Amino acid sequence: MAYTIAVAGKGGTGKTTIAGFLVDYLVKNKMTPVLAVDADPNANLNQVLGMEVETTLGEIREEVSIKNRDGKLPGNMTKAEYINLKLQQAVIEGRGFDLLVMGRPEGVGCYCFANGLLKEATDRLSDNYRFMVIDNEAGLEHLSRRTTKKVDLMFAVSECSKRGIDAAARVKELIEELHLDVKNLYLIVNRVPESGLTDEIKKAIDGYGLELAGTVPLDGKIFDYDNLGLPLVKIPEDTPALKAVRSIFDSFLTAVKDY
Ligand SMILES: Nc1ncnc2c1ncn2[C@@H]1O[C@H](COP(=O)(O)OP(=O)(O)O)[C@@H](O)[C@H]1O
Ligand SMILES: [Mg+2]
Repeated sequence: MAYTIAVAGKGGTGKTTIAGFLVDYLVKNKMTPVLAVDADPNANLNQVLGMEVETTLGEIREEVSIKNRDGKLPGNMTKAEYINLKLQQAVIEGRGFDLLVMGRPEGVGCYCFANGLLKEATDRLSDNYRFMVIDNEAGLEHLSRRTTKKVDLMFAVSECSKRGIDAAARVKELIEELHLDVKNLYLIVNRVPESGLTDEIKKAIDGYGLELAGTVPLDGKIFDYDNLGLPLVKIPEDTPALKAVRSIFDSFLTAVKDY
């Protein structure tokens, strides 16, 4: 099974940015093949990675249920076999990595089936990759629905505020409450101003028993790239936020380089 790294946290904290940098890091360090999974219904990991999305799991779910209803599933295969075939078509090939997008199911807003499909897809595909990176949705729905079997390393991303740390601590609580198989959990505080972490924030981190992986500075370049619609993975190598993120990855991933 692939070494699975998940990025979790509240909306807007920088999960997708960090997940995108992580995919790029793994590819550049030849820790391939990598499967990038966008598990957020508001998919945008592809933009950070500079890729077009052709098919999402949400669309597959829609197609299969309509065909099933109309009795139009291919006669020579079971529904499960048909879904499996479709799953393979949903894997988008990038340079050194593949991307799987959950997307938003059409119609009545139940994510259960798409979540189930996502779990099935990641379980099935996991053996084909050395590393899997999951960009989680904000609401932790995937965690609570056990989308993934095991997570080797999880980064909880927080904004730089006391309330941000409170929200990150909720990720830790959820993992414990639900007995999720998350081997290692670390906090990344993102968009940190030049003055650094305040004593209040440091105290909150300690108080919750969170382990700080590192901090990432507030960086105008990231903002600029995002606003111009440019893929973040094309950002100059000397961008402070990118350097900070890479140094975090170095300290946590060098040991599993040959996984
Ligand atoms: N270190 C940073 N400095 C400046 N802007 C950032 C930084 N990290 C993320 N951003 C910006 O913050 C916004 C939210 O980031 P995103 O990765 O989409 O968050 P999430 O996936 O958690 O919702 C984006 O516009 C992104 O460009
Ligand atoms: Mg996101």
